[in-house]
Amino acid sequence: MDSLTGGHAATVMLEEEAVLGYAVCMPLPGEVELLNITVAPAARRGGLGRMLLAHVCADAEAQGAQRMFLEVRVSNVPARALYARNGFAEVGLRRAYYAAADGAREDAILMAREL
Ligand SMILES: CC(C)(COP(=O)(O)OP(=O)(O)OC[C@H]1O[C@@H](n2cnc3c(N)ncnc32)[C@H](O)[C@@H]1OP(=O)(O)O)[C@@H](O)C(=O)NCCC(=O)NCCS
Repeated sequence: MDSLTGGHAATVMLEEEAVLGYAVCMPLPGEVELLNITVAPAARRGGLGRMLLAHVCADAEAQGAQRMFLEVRVSNVPARALYARNGFAEVGLRRAYYAAADGAREDAILMAREL
């Protein structure tokens, strides 16, 4: 909701009226930040995440972006695998970037892909 209120672009994947997934991007000059990509739990592992990611990359490229960046939790194995299999490389580590359980913090891996 913060992203939408802030005017960031959202892509929504629908089946009839049901939302199967969405992605939110923040366009910047020459690049784009992928803020969020999510597939509904019941629809995961069926290739929709890959399809959605390919769509937002193609869309960003068509709008003139040369590179896409994103951050992902170190513990997020599915998302890290999705990105790694789709051309993203690890380019940095942001220590204590995310809030975690019990007041702890978790590192973020910064990933990038040329478009
Ligand atoms: C990450 C997410 C979007 C993947 O969506 P999905 O539709 O399940 O992904 P796909 O079926 O297209 O899978 C694409 C690749 O992702 C990887 N992957 C997806 N789920 C995985 C899992 N549970 N474990 C390991 N790898 C996984 C695999 O490499 C897979 O390729 P393969 O099927 O050829 O092995 C989904 O798990 C999700 O919504 N997670 C919660 C939200 C989230 O964490 N978003 C990322 C924020 S940075």
